[in-house]
Amino acid sequence: MIPQATIERIIDSANIVDVVSEYVTLRRSGANYKGLCPFHDDKTPSFMVSPSKGICKCFSCGEGGNAVHFIMKIEQLTYVEALKFLAKKYGIEVEDRELTPEQRQSMNERESMFALNEWASEYFNNNLKNDVDGRAIGLAYFRNRGFRDDIIEKFKLGFALDKWEEISIKAKQKGYNENFLVKTGLCYRKDDNRLNDRFRGRVMFPWFNISGKVVAFGGRVLDARTKGVSQKYVNSPESEIYSKARELYGIYQAKKQIAKDDCVYMVEGYTDVISMHQCGIENVVANSGTALSIEQIRLLHRYTNNIVLLYDGDAAGIHAALRGTDMLLAEGMNVKILLLPDGDDPDSFARKHNATEFKAYIEEHQTDFIIFKTNLLLGDAGHDPIKRANLTKDIVKSISVIPEEIVRSTYIHECSERLNISEAVLLNETQKNRAKALEEMKKEAERERERAKYLAQKEQENIQNGAVVQQDEEKSIATTQNVTQTPNSVPSTTASDDPHAPSPEELEYLESLHASQSPFPPDQEASQQPSTPTVPSVPQDVLNIRRETIEDKRFYGLEKMIMRLIVRYGIKTIFGEDENGQECEISLIDFVNNELTVDGLTFHNELYTKMLNEAVAHQNDEGFLPSKFFTYSQDLATSQEAANLMSDKYQLSEREQTTDPEELAPEQIVHLMLDYKFAFIEAELKSCKMQLNTPEIIQNSDACNEIMQRFMNLSNIQRALGKRLGDRIYLK
Ligand code: CTP
Ligand code: MN
Repeated sequence: MIPQATIERIIDSANIVDVVSEYVTLRRSGANYKGLCPFHDDKTPSFMVSPSKGICKCFSCGEGGNAVHFIMKIEQLTYVEALKFLAKKYGIEVEDRELTPEQRQSMNERESMFALNEWASEYFNNNLKNDVDGRAIGLAYFRNRGFRDDIIEKFKLGFALDKWEEISIKAKQKGYNENFLVKTGLCYRKDDNRLNDRFRGRVMFPWFNISGKVVAFGGRVLDARTKGVSQKYVNSPESEIYSKARELYGIYQAKKQIAKDDCVYMVEGYTDVISMHQCGIENVVANSGTALSIEQIRLLHRYTNNIVLLYDGDAAGIHAALRGTDMLLAEGMNVKILLLPDGDDPDSFARKHNATEFKAYIEEHQTDFIIFKTNLLLGDAGHDPIKRANLTKDIVKSISVIPEEIVRSTYIHECSERLNISEAVLLNETQKNRAKALEEMKKEAERERERAKYLAQKEQENIQNGAVVQQDEEKSIATTQNVTQTPNSVPSTTASDDPHAPSPEELEYLESLHASQSPFPPDQEASQQPSTPTVPSVPQDVLNIRRETIEDKRFYGLEKMIMRLIVRYGIKTIFGEDENGQECEISLIDFVNNELTVDGLTFHNELYTKMLNEAVAHQNDEGFLPSKFFTYSQDLATSQEAANLMSDKYQLSEREQTTDPEELAPEQIVHLMLDYKFAFIEAELKSCKMQLNTPEIIQNSDACNEIMQRFMNLSNIQRALGKRLGDRIYLK
């Protein structure tokens, strides 16, 4: 376990904007930052980052938290790993002894594979610099291609010695497990069960993923003339840590510059990327000769909207330029094409020019993709009417996938002139295409629903008859709740432009009272709304519903709101009674704790009980700040929940608040506690009523009386409760 003090130092040092912007291009939005959410397919920026709170949150998919939670999610790390990751980034020492071979074996698989690859890339790199053959063959090769030493270091280029069992033996000596040698693809197993090295006598290009971990290698033969026998490049096979379709060569070295320039250059090969860096152009990645995948596009889209595809000007380059580009358009990217002068690829061009010249060339010669395609096909088709008709269809197809209407119509206008076809015709074709695509999407959604229905049905078959009764119960509870809800309950249930508009948590609570209400926060994109009521995600919920859950949902909602105030303003004071009934000024933490204790209540949510107890115990520590105390907790669940409670739409947004929410906190907590207790009483009352309806009780007059009595008592308490709470609290 990492010591608490170190955790605090790590979180204190981690600048959330800094951390997130390694993965997401952020734009300032008032006191906060905004970007495309990296956790779902986000078309409009819904990912908010608050530097003052140190948290981030997506208001569309709900992901977020503090810097550690963000890293956990995006890097797929455990809590401790994420802390270490940030510690490394900020140069904070975390006590971590050299691993013994046994410990190494027990590291989890991915980590082990990363560790092995990291070691191997160091090893290859060291060969290049210090081994006799490495220098004479490998380094000589790179120097011959004009690669400078700093660039060789930047891309950690290396050399694999020309031996069959070099890596396999050395790695095992270092304590790395054989299995991982095979799993990473550094070695392969022969029939006699011995391991052979995959890369022999090749210069090595390690692939770094977005966070700088080595996921794979490419190894190039030194002499391209050895035809047939050996491939020019040997690449690592797919593995648990490497999916070719998801990675982009050079992304780690390029990501900052891509965001800065708001543009990425796409090239084909390793050497193109490296030469461009050397000439001073750093916003460049390669997809290694294959078509771009949707994952790769989305990875890039996090950083920029603008992509320029750089190709050789020969037929193959032109062909490649047309391939897979519609997918970029469909993702809403601006696509430009640049063909280099015949005979040059980005590598050779970069070696002949400096960055200024290269960039000037790009500026001058890049062509918008649709225009490029139109001109190209137009040239091919000549006056052949059939060819021209086909090319029109082809171009319209590309235009149809563009999500922005305004962009589409600009292209339609442009193409209409070039193709000499009326805009109306092109528009009509475009709309037909889009309608067809929409139809397809609907069908797919329908199929998806059918699948869900089928699964739900199957589940239902496994559930006892009780489910039906429970649904009826839910209905009756919903109606009683409408009646019994106290008028002065939660202070903020009004329209969304009210400064005290309900937060998502509050909406969650309201929703638990009125099951049919939409769970969407008020200013969520309108386009998303219609689907909710008509496609209730109900099947599973309804089927799994237990009597307690109906109640729980309401309790959980209230508890969440109570804890939100505790996490934010827990040490703010309020006039109340201490345990001896003495009137005094107490903290909100004490207030909530006392109120629960007085009536012998505990939170349904065990995490909250734990958090509250911790707060009670530590609130008098020097410098105690609840928000910090909870988010910095060693306990992941606590820290995550705290970050969650710290972030809500209305806190992050730049809303003009007429009253400081902190000032409102004492009043709100009183109402909430009141509501909370009412909820308990209501649940009890309901249970009494139900018991009074059961035949055994009806026939047993003693039991019946007893329950009637309890029922009366509870009703009295309920009436008195409001007065009691109201009387003994004096708001400051
Ligand atoms: N590639 C590959 N396997 C091959 C050929 C190519 O993986 N057998 C990938 C490599 O990522 C390579 C890219 O496709 O970088 C482009 O191929 P190519 O243009 O042939 O290679 P260059 O990068 O130009 O390499 P060099 O200049 O050293 O010939
Ligand atoms: Mn080349």
